[in-house]
Amino acid sequence: MADSEATFSSSPAVEKLGSSDLLSVGKGYGTYGIVGATVIAIVLPVLLSIVFMGKKKVKQRGVPVEVGGEAGYAIRNGRMPHLIEVPWEGANTMAALFEQSCKKYSRGRFLGTRKLISKEFITASDGRKFEKLHLGDYEWQTFGQVFDRACNFASGLIRLGHNEDTRAAIFSETRAEWFIAFQGCMRQNITVVTIYASLGEDALIHSLNETQVSTLICDSKQLKKLAAISTKITTIKNVIYFEDDGSATADDSSISGSTSHWTVSSFSEVEKLGKNSPLPPNLPSKNEIALIMYTSGSTGLPKGVMIAHSNIVATAAAVMTLIPKLGSNDVYLAFLPLAHVLELAAESIMLTAGCAIGYGSALTLTDTANKIKKGTKGDTSVLKPTLMAAVPTILDRVRDGVLKKVEEKGGITKKLFNSVYKRRLAAIEGSWFGAWGLERMLWDFIVFKSIRDVLGGSIRFMLCGGAPLSGESQRFINICMGARIVQGYGLTETCAGAAFSEWDDTSVGRVGPPLPCCYIKLVSWEEGGYRISDKPMPQGEIVIGGFCVTSGYFNNQEKTDEVYKVDEKGMCWFYTGDIGRFHPDGCLEIVDRKKDIVKLQHGEYISLGKVEAALMSSNYVDNIMVYADSFKNYCVALVVPSHQALEKWSQQVGIKYRNFAELCNKDETIAEVRQSLSKVGKAAKLDKFEIPEKIKLLPDPWTPESGLVTAALKIKREQLKSKFKEELQKLYD
Ligand SMILES: *[C@@H]1O[C@H](CO)[C@@H](O)[C@H](O)[C@H]1NC(C)=O
Ligand SMILES: *[C@@H]1O[C@H](CO)[C@@H](O)[C@H](O)[C@H]1NC(C)=O
Repeated sequence: MADSEATFSSSPAVEKLGSSDLLSVGKGYGTYGIVGATVIAIVLPVLLSIVFMGKKKVKQRGVPVEVGGEAGYAIRNGRMPHLIEVPWEGANTMAALFEQSCKKYSRGRFLGTRKLISKEFITASDGRKFEKLHLGDYEWQTFGQVFDRACNFASGLIRLGHNEDTRAAIFSETRAEWFIAFQGCMRQNITVVTIYASLGEDALIHSLNETQVSTLICDSKQLKKLAAISTKITTIKNVIYFEDDGSATADDSSISGSTSHWTVSSFSEVEKLGKNSPLPPNLPSKNEIALIMYTSGSTGLPKGVMIAHSNIVATAAAVMTLIPKLGSNDVYLAFLPLAHVLELAAESIMLTAGCAIGYGSALTLTDTANKIKKGTKGDTSVLKPTLMAAVPTILDRVRDGVLKKVEEKGGITKKLFNSVYKRRLAAIEGSWFGAWGLERMLWDFIVFKSIRDVLGGSIRFMLCGGAPLSGESQRFINICMGARIVQGYGLTETCAGAAFSEWDDTSVGRVGPPLPCCYIKLVSWEEGGYRISDKPMPQGEIVIGGFCVTSGYFNNQEKTDEVYKVDEKGMCWFYTGDIGRFHPDGCLEIVDRKKDIVKLQHGEYISLGKVEAALMSSNYVDNIMVYADSFKNYCVALVVPSHQALEKWSQQVGIKYRNFAELCNKDETIAEVRQSLSKVGKAAKLDKFEIPEKIKLLPDPWTPESGLVTAALKIKREQLKSKFKEELQKLYD
C-alpha cells in the first residue's frame, strides 16, 4: 500500500507547477499588471518549497475519518483505509493464531531459556545476602515443540480435573512456561486470569476470589506466598507450579503440608499426564474472553479487564505492519512482566511473525546486572536480541549509566563523546540524513560501539510503552544505540493497542498515528479547557474505537458503562481519561490526564500534571506533587528536594544543620525552594494560582518499593495524598 504524503508548505496545486510552467508565465513581459502579480504569487511559494524541500515535506501518518458516536475529531491510520482485524484469514482467535503460526514456522526456533549453571549467595559488608547466578547459553525449542507442549498441557489440565467452566490464573514471572501454559488454556477455551505481582496480597485475594479461579499456575517462589494465604483463597482446587532449575521438588514438602486441600502438581507432571492420554481441543470462538487482566484501580481494589481473542489478534496484526522487515531472523528479548498487557501483546506479535523469543529478567539483563555473577554474561550479551520492548525507567537507567561512565572516564573520551553526540543530534533534529556514510560508521565504531554492546550490539528496533519517555532519553537511545526507538500508547482496556510511532519518524514526545486496528477520536472537554476547535491543534479526551477495544470490566457493569460506549453503528469506544492533541500529520501527543485537573474555588482549573512538569525544572526538585483543594483558591505542593542542590546552597549561604531532615524543615530552606518554584513557574508562563502558595519539603525519596510512585516512576497521587494527609492539611491551615 502506498504511503500517502502531503505537504504543508504550499498548496498542492502550486506544487504541481513545474519550472517550465514558470518560464512560460515569465515570458509574457509586455503585459504586467495581473500577470506580474500571478508570477510573484506562484514563484514565491514554489521557491520557498524548493528551499525547504525535505524539511517541510510532511508525511501524512494519520488522516481524518468520519465515525459514529459522540461528536469529535477522529483520525485513522494514514496507510490503511479500513481497520485491520486479523493477521491473516482464519487467525481470528489466539488459539487459531498459535496453531497456524506453529505449523507455518514449525522448525524455526521459538522459545529460548538460559540454562542455570550455578547459583550462589554472597554476603555484603552490611550482612545482607545477595543471590548471584551463573547462566549459560540459551536452549531453544522450535515452534513445533512448543505447540506439542501446549497441547500436552491442555490435555493434562483437563485430566487433572480442571472444570472447563471455571478459570485458571497464572501468577509467575515471565518465562517460557508462562507462554506455554497460556496457550494450553486457550486450546481448552479456559479464560486465564492475571494479576500484577506488585498489586499486593489483598488485590491477589480479591482477584482470585472474584473470578472464582479453580486452577492456579505459578512459579515455585509464588507458591510459598500463596501457601501463606491459602485459607483466604477458597475457590482453588489445583495448583500447578513451574519447577526451578535444580531445585525442582525441594519445596514440595513444605507446601503440601500447609495446603492439604490443594492438589499440587508440577508443570512437567501435567504435561506428562496430557501426553500419555491426549484429549481433543475445545477451541474458542473470536468473541470469547481469553484473559481477565487485573490492573490497579484508582480507588482501592483492582479492576479485571476482559480481553477477548479478537482483541489480541487485532493488536498483533496491526503492530506487525509497523515494524519493518519483521520475521524469522529477529530475536526478541522478553523480560517485562507477562501480566502486563504490553509484554503479552509483544510476545503475541513475535508469535505471529515467526520471531524467536529469548527469556530474561530485569535483574539479569546486562553483564553488570544485580543477579549476574561477576565475570559472567547477562541476557543481552548472550542472546544478542534485535528487538526489545521496554519501559521508560529501564531506558532512563541505561542513559544514566552511560553518562556516568563517560563522566568517570573524563578527558578525551568525554570530549569526543560530547562532540560526536552533538553532531548526531543536530543531524537528526534537522532530519538530515547525511551522516549515514563512512564518517558515521567510523564514529559509530569508535564512540558508540561499546554502548551498543551493553544491549548485545544487535538491537535494531525498540518499543517503549507503559509511560511517557522523555524526549532526551528517546534521542539518546536513538543516537547511542543506533536503533530506532519508537513510543506507543495503549491501555489494558485497548489490549495495548491505540497509537504507535512509525519507525521513520524522528520527532520525539509523540506516540504516533492510530494503529490500523482502531480509530482515535478527540472529544472536547469544555470544563478542562480542551477543545477540538483549539488552535493550532485540536485537543480533547482521547477516545478509542475498534477491534482492539476490550469488552469491559469483569463483574463491574457500573464502571464499564462509565467508560465504554457503543455507538449507533455498533462500534465500542473506550474513554481513556487521557487528554491528547493531534499534530497536522495525524500523530497523537498525550498532554494531560483528566482526573489530574481540579477546579479551584474561584472557578479556574488547574492541571496538576502540567504544573508539576513545569516545576520539575527547578534544580532543587527531585520530585513534586502539586495538590489543590477545590474549596480553596490556591494550590500547595509536596517536594522531595535534591540533596545535592540543597546542600550546595546551604554551604553558600552558611546554614548549619545536623541532618538533611532538619535542613528541610528550616524556614529559609522552604523560602528558597519556593522562590525557585515561583521563578521556573513564571518562566513556564504558569498563572499565579498555579504556583504553589505553600510547600512542604520531604527528606525521603519516593520509590516504587514504598508504593508512592509506579515502577515507571510516575507519582501515585492517591497514595501520596493518603500518606501525607496531615502535611497537606497543615499547608492549608
Ligand atoms: C469471596 O467472594 C464472595 C462472593 O462471591 C464473598 O462473599 C467473600 O467474602 C469473598 N471472600 C474474600 C476472602 O474476599
Ligand atoms: C467457551 O467458554 C465460554 C465461557 O466459559 C462459553 O460461554 C463458550 O460457550 C465456550 N465456547 C466453546 C466453543 O466451547
